[in-house]
Amino acid sequence: MSLSARDQACLWHPFTQAKIEGLPIGIVRAKGCTLFTEDGREIIDAVSSWWVNIHGHSHPYIAERIAKQAATLEHVIFAGFTHAPAVELAEQLLRYLPSNQKRIFYSDNGSTAVETALKMAMQYLHQSGQSRQKVISFHGGYHGDTFGAMSANAPTSFYKPFAPYLFQVQRIAPPQSQDDAVIAEFEAMLGMGDVGIFIFEPIVQAVAGMRIHSPAGLNRMLELCRKHGVVTIADEVFTGFGRTGRFFACDYLEQEPDIVCISKGITGGFLPLGVTSSTQAIFDAFYSDDRGKMFFHGHSYTANPIACSAALASLELLQKPEASKGLELINECHRAFLVNLKSHSLVKGAAVVGTILRFEIESGADSGYLSSLRDRLYAGFLKRGVLLRPLGNIIYVLPPYCVTKEELLKVYSAIEETLEELAKATEGAHEA
Ligand SMILES: Cc1ncc(COP(=O)(O)O)c(C=O)c1O
Repeated sequence: MSLSARDQACLWHPFTQAKIEGLPIGIVRAKGCTLFTEDGREIIDAVSSWWVNIHGHSHPYIAERIAKQAATLEHVIFAGFTHAPAVELAEQLLRYLPSNQKRIFYSDNGSTAVETALKMAMQYLHQSGQSRQKVISFHGGYHGDTFGAMSANAPTSFYKPFAPYLFQVQRIAPPQSQDDAVIAEFEAMLGMGDVGIFIFEPIVQAVAGMRIHSPAGLNRMLELCRKHGVVTIADEVFTGFGRTGRFFACDYLEQEPDIVCISKGITGGFLPLGVTSSTQAIFDAFYSDDRGKMFFHGHSYTANPIACSAALASLELLQKPEASKGLELINECHRAFLVNLKSHSLVKGAAVVGTILRFEIESGADSGYLSSLRDRLYAGFLKRGVLLRPLGNIIYVLPPYCVTKEELLKVYSAIEETLEELAKATEGAHEA
């Protein structure tokens, strides 16, 4: 029996409607940007497997470092104990993070990095005697699937069943410029004196449809937070490790956030790992002779040595010239293809930032995450050997940094042919 068939008898997949989606595709191995299926097909992973992969699949250097670490120290409790991979990775990350970041707290994934950040900020406010309990996030934001993260997410239909259990969060539109009217609105919200936390995805809101906002506008918002003593949390889970063209998206800003969340690309896509970094001032609010003031948070696999070693190996690869050449190549190819896309009658909102290309299909009322176009587009790309997972009527290309020009051209052709097919079907429907 095939993997796909056996899977159907025992598994439950994330964000998947088992009744209407087809059988999952069995993957037996992967190399570079290519996934090899159990029935002998090859698929280009143009979404970096949910945005985690940066150097390509099964990279031999990361695999080797993982194997060495597994044979040396696979895991040890991280309360009362420490180890070299955790210390070295913290030292390395602090070189790349905004200069005010001084402490690293490990967890397991993007959602836990955010959950940790929210709890850290809340306990910090509590311990520094501040009763400002309101949290602000961006309209359209996505921060993960745990409860704190869900509270901060855009309140879409996804969260209806959980709504009674979530805490209240106020929302503000991401700024389109430094003078955007939302900045005055934001200032008025902060002026009420009850806002304690502002959490945001810097520069690109991924799940919202790779929506891009203004660095200058965001910078202004962070200035206002500083003025009003609001704790700022930059969720770099998606944007970190070069995705937007700079190491972190916060590198586009002058203002520095108080807390940063990272995950996804951190291990090069090999193992789950979350990091929440903070300023010294936040750490100091927990530093006390009183045990009751310690940070009440932790996970069994905190600072897993194998995951930390994968991250160290990935960071080494990221420093090599091949990585920056890869980032440049992707950006150049995306920008060249953008010109074609912009002239396509079905396309709107096409844009490129760093390694991300995004555009929308003109679909009238049938837009948003649940757009019926999504399944047709997904199938159209897959049929052409390309994995792209549209967010409703929004398509994005976000490959590992080792992608070749030939592979990118194949991805663009798959997009053009699928759009062609869609245009014909739309014309046909109008004529009928
Ligand atoms: C900005 C952002 N934050 C947090 C998360 C949650 O990360 P994870 O899926 O690892 O829990 C995601 C996932 O897409 C994300 O895009």
